[in-house]
Amino acid sequence: MELYPPKFNSFRNALNANVHRFQLNCFLAIFEAEHMTKLSQKILELRDSETLAMAARSRALAAQGYSVINLSLGEPDFPTPLHIQEAAHEAIRNNFTYYTPVAGYAETRKAVSEKLLRDNQLEYSPEQIVCSTGAKQSIINLLLCLLNPGDEVLLPAPYWVSYLSMIEWASGIPVVLPSGVEQSYKIRPEQLEAAITPKTKAFLFSSPCNPTGSVYTAAELEDLARVFRKYPDIVVISDEIYEYINFLPQHDSILHCAGMQERGVIINGLSKGFSMTGWRFGYLAASQEIATACVKLQGQFTSATCSITQRAAIAALTGDLTPTHEMRDAFRSRRDVALERLLSIDGIRCNRPDGAFYLFPDISHYLGHTFNGQTIQDAGALCDYLLNEAHVALVAGDAFGAPGCLRMSYATGEDRIKEAMDRIERALSALES
Ligand SMILES: Cc1ncc(COP(=O)(O)O)c(C=O)c1O
Repeated sequence: MELYPPKFNSFRNALNANVHRFQLNCFLAIFEAEHMTKLSQKILELRDSETLAMAARSRALAAQGYSVINLSLGEPDFPTPLHIQEAAHEAIRNNFTYYTPVAGYAETRKAVSEKLLRDNQLEYSPEQIVCSTGAKQSIINLLLCLLNPGDEVLLPAPYWVSYLSMIEWASGIPVVLPSGVEQSYKIRPEQLEAAITPKTKAFLFSSPCNPTGSVYTAAELEDLARVFRKYPDIVVISDEIYEYINFLPQHDSILHCAGMQERGVIINGLSKGFSMTGWRFGYLAASQEIATACVKLQGQFTSATCSITQRAAIAALTGDLTPTHEMRDAFRSRRDVALERLLSIDGIRCNRPDGAFYLFPDISHYLGHTFNGQTIQDAGALCDYLLNEAHVALVAGDAFGAPGCLRMSYATGEDRIKEAMDRIERALSALES
């Protein structure tokens, strides 16, 4: 009879082996770490962020002296515009350094509500705005306030990496709606309607989209809205964090379609359009009921976001958008350079993204190819290969619900992009079919 259940392998092996006391202590320490954890099942089951993991691996390789080009991160490489920096300095000098109201200063919420009217023609009172430490917090606040266990959330794939974990953490069930490169990674209305069940509580998507850069046109949004109008209880969550990195003549929000604002929630923030990832400012705009619930939640867990950031946000939201438009133009020109090079590589298929700063090529052509006798089984293996052999860091599509694809961020200088493409092309041509 086994004295210990099979999962206690390290402990059992240690006892079976004729080991020294010191070694036994080491085994016991490992045993404790593996099996005597104080952590909850919920945190143990939470996935690590693939994008952060890849960034860490790329940094580790760079620390060993390799010249790594990191195209794995979703972060603009420009400095925050000067007038926003100045507003932050002034905030400190004027002692905006105390706790603020949980949902944000009245002036900050007013600036958000004016922005929504100016840019999106959507009317919200400042009381319907909740500012948070980034769009990320706004989304988890919202899901925790909306979902009961077992509620389904429709999630078009490829999706932003954190949506899935957030829905699960909030006890919801993600219902993934896949879309491939041949449909520019955008779901069709028939697909949406087919996925709706009596348990559908919400729909969550980003346009412009992370990871694909796809942007739904006004007509495509109206096609989706037409389906939603038949199901008035579904909450439509529109993550518009890439609003200002949109290469189409204008940004369209699904909440602008008839009947959508009343049951929709806008998520947005300053990280991408103003290059303010470290400042931590996001917000949601919703019905009064939902906004009040989010304030209640945030009040217990984090309180408001940084007071200085909130003052700087007023300058960003109400100030000159020229620097933002210049960044967008730079991203568009990088997109052109990166896409042209990518499409010239044998076997790669990619859509022409109209926003954000990502390319999302379908690389399934290379699956099953070999290098030094090793078979590239999936996109993760191809990422490992490109990191180790070409020293270019990308993220496997599996993390975004799209196996067979890779995400490539072009939020870096054109020279780096060209060098990365040279390396990728060389490495892929070294694979054997
Ligand atoms: C689609 C999407 N939503 C939300 C976020 C989170 O942004 P923030 O920095 O405001 O938390 C990101 C960041 O990568 C994103 O890509």
